[in-house]
Amino acid sequence: MKKMCVVLEDREVRDNPFTPEIFRIVRRYPLTNDVNFYQARPVDVEEALKFDYKPGQFIMMSLMGEGEAPFCLSSTPSRPGMVELCIRNVGTLTSSLHGIKENETVGIRGPYGNGFPIDKMLGKDILIVAGGLGAAPLRSLLLYVLDNRDQFGKLTYLHGARLPGEMLFREEFVQLKDREDLNCLLAVDKDDTGKWPYKVGVVTELFKDLGPVDGKNTFGIVCGPPAMYRFVMPHMVKLGIPKHQILMTLERRMKCGVGKCGHCAIEYLYTCIDGPVFSYWDVLHMKEIIGRGVSDKTVA
Ligand SMILES: Cc1cc2nc3c(=O)[nH]c(=O)nc-3n(C[C@H](O)[C@H](O)[C@H](O)COP(=O)(O)OP(=O)(O)OC[C@H]3O[C@@H](n4cnc5c(N)ncnc54)[C@H](O)[C@@H]3O)c2cc1C
Ligand code: FES
Repeated sequence: MKKMCVVLEDREVRDNPFTPEIFRIVRRYPLTNDVNFYQARPVDVEEALKFDYKPGQFIMMSLMGEGEAPFCLSSTPSRPGMVELCIRNVGTLTSSLHGIKENETVGIRGPYGNGFPIDKMLGKDILIVAGGLGAAPLRSLLLYVLDNRDQFGKLTYLHGARLPGEMLFREEFVQLKDREDLNCLLAVDKDDTGKWPYKVGVVTELFKDLGPVDGKNTFGIVCGPPAMYRFVMPHMVKLGIPKHQILMTLERRMKCGVGKCGHCAIEYLYTCIDGPVFSYWDVLHMKEIIGRGVSDKTVA
């Protein structure tokens, strides 16, 4: 009888969608004062190569006794075997995650969410606009397009940060500026070092340096602090990018990550299963989003 219970418990654990896979942190280093970069892979080596995902998807990461939270994948599925995450220290779980050392383990379940509609984006020009921590999910998409470069049209990456020291992956993006098949433009709101060689100004200033854009053939992708959407969207619309081809990733408080608890609802949509990637067309009529200032009526 006892043995049978153990078997049942094993199956329950295995079939339970909330049971995390154990991942080992293989690398961890600071990207900025409050954001750490992590590379992790499943302890079970066979699982490492099986873990597949789409750019724009997220995972639920847990530390025993501390809690669980959603984080976007910053790595690209075109480089399998390892996942990469950027985590800002804002509270209980994230401060414990900042204290974790290489070789220690965490729980990860997922991947969850819809991710970017890569199939529809094939053959199109791609214009990515990242602000602050928005670079975390958008790096996944950028690296994916670079790894499959012949399957997409013109590729442009605009990245804004408050200060040079706050730009995530700064060295990586500066190196990418040398690539001829990518137009990578970087800006900081303020140069407190006096040594920043690129644009000083808000991220929308970079739209002036874009050159000609074939709006109808372009997917525009935006991720950044909520206020940024208000200023970036009018530029996307002005470039002639259709609203269903303007994509954004949205964050909401989450508990289950799989459409069961309702914590992440925005009107009738669940961010965890209908998102976190939404088109501008999807959210345009939503008062909650519009209330936060996203509109194409004010051209910045
Ligand atoms: C789909 C998705 C992807 C995300 N990707 C990333 C990522 O790649 N990197 C990253 O650093 N963070 C990301 N986040 C946010 C991250 O989940 C929260 O920062 C985390 O839950 C905070 O947990 P905590 O226990 O440390 O904070 P808590 O102690 O719970 O809260 C600390 C403070 O942060 C605020 N807060 C907590 N969660 C959120 C949230 N989801 N949105 C806004 N404010 C919040 C609280 O109101 C409080 O003020 C993502 C969130 C979602 C929904
Ligand atoms: S987080 Fe539970 S329904 Fe979305």
